[in-house]
Amino acid sequence: MKVLILGSGGREHALAWKLSQSPRVTAVFCAPGNGGIGEVATCVPIKLSEIERLLEFALAENIGLTVVGPDDALAAGMVDRFSAAGLRIFGPTQAAARLESSKVFAKEFMQRHGIPTACSGHFTNSLEARRYAAGLPLPLVLKADGLALGKGVIIAQTREEVEQAILDIMDKRKFGSAGQAMVIEEFLEGPECSIHALVDGSNYLLFPSAQDHKRALDDDQGLNTGGMGTYSPAPQLTPALEQSLRTDVLDRFIAGLKADGLSYQGMLFPGLMLTPKGIRVLEFNCRFGDPETQVLLARLESDLLDLLEATIDRTLPRQTPRWRSGSAVCVIAASGGYPETYETGKPVGGLEKATKTAVIFHAGTRIAEGKITTSGGRVLGVTATGHDLPEARSKAYSAMTAIHFEGMFFRRDIGAKGLGH
Ligand code: AMP
Ligand code: GLY
Repeated sequence: MKVLILGSGGREHALAWKLSQSPRVTAVFCAPGNGGIGEVATCVPIKLSEIERLLEFALAENIGLTVVGPDDALAAGMVDRFSAAGLRIFGPTQAAARLESSKVFAKEFMQRHGIPTACSGHFTNSLEARRYAAGLPLPLVLKADGLALGKGVIIAQTREEVEQAILDIMDKRKFGSAGQAMVIEEFLEGPECSIHALVDGSNYLLFPSAQDHKRALDDDQGLNTGGMGTYSPAPQLTPALEQSLRTDVLDRFIAGLKADGLSYQGMLFPGLMLTPKGIRVLEFNCRFGDPETQVLLARLESDLLDLLEATIDRTLPRQTPRWRSGSAVCVIAASGGYPETYETGKPVGGLEKATKTAVIFHAGTRIAEGKITTSGGRVLGVTATGHDLPEARSKAYSAMTAIHFEGMFFRRDIGAKGLGH
């Protein structure tokens, strides 16, 4: 079968790497891809906004399965268009992907179906938002309703910051139409944990846990980013919490789909906060996480194609995937200045040496005059497995020492929380 992956990040490189190992896959394509994906797939220079061109390509190449990487492609109705043309595609429909593309929709879903989440209110009018916020203790969390490249969440410590956030989101539309509505919610504390579960409409299949590191700098300092590194499993998700995750979140999610008549098939990736009062869902993502996918697929021993197809065919209960024991760690090498402004076009060296101990998933890279150069903020995801977390960390960091490009930085504490540091 020929497979097409849509996207251009480290997540898509990991998907292409894993699917290219499937004995049933004859060719992997990736649109638009990046500088490293060409090692395991054929990159196709079509942007994700060009849905009709992607469709034409998939029909002409007789693609047997398309896998959607990013949220905005799901929100734009990629799955609906491919399905209507009779093509098999992995991911939820536009209507179901509203669980990620509208925080108001997600909060209402959670509240309606008893899924534990932060107490919140939602507003389409900034005066009402101000009135609601005024009566609540600080800190407060203010979120633009729509997709905002991970930047639409503001944690306000003072009344001035609350006012500024409402002004930015709703009045100034700093995040564009994402700010047509907003959510204001209580601030929660505790470790965060990323959960992935395939959902076939009636059943779910839980993947191992992972933990991302959202802040740019060590010790969770600096600005929020798309994710600076991950490890799996995350020991904070104890067996008791996993049981609660199943009964209080995933079972209720499936029951909620049924009650609302919502059809959801694809990956569900809830962001969780493990608070002293128990699990709280911060958000639902309707796709694979980035860089969570890098560590999860590094640990998956079974054929990913079987799992994706079972999700589409509603046969998940027949799947029993095998996972490599031990741990996996992914450390992101980023461009100096990320997540704010940074320069691109820097030549990347040392990749060959680094691949002796780790798998290097490319994110913001491209090939210029035959050489790998930087083209984005998150550049590479250096990913290693080990029989335990210390070994996986030491392999990932040792590979990282081989890699260099001008302005490169990375966090040195990825996985430290898993060691109790
Ligand atoms: P979200 O896009 O909703 O996951 O939010 C992005 C990040 O903001 C999360 O990963 C958390 O670190 C933080 N965050 C979101 N909601 C809350 C909350 N209610 N309390 C504390 N931190 C939060
Ligand atoms: N790593 C966080 C995300 O993919 O949203």
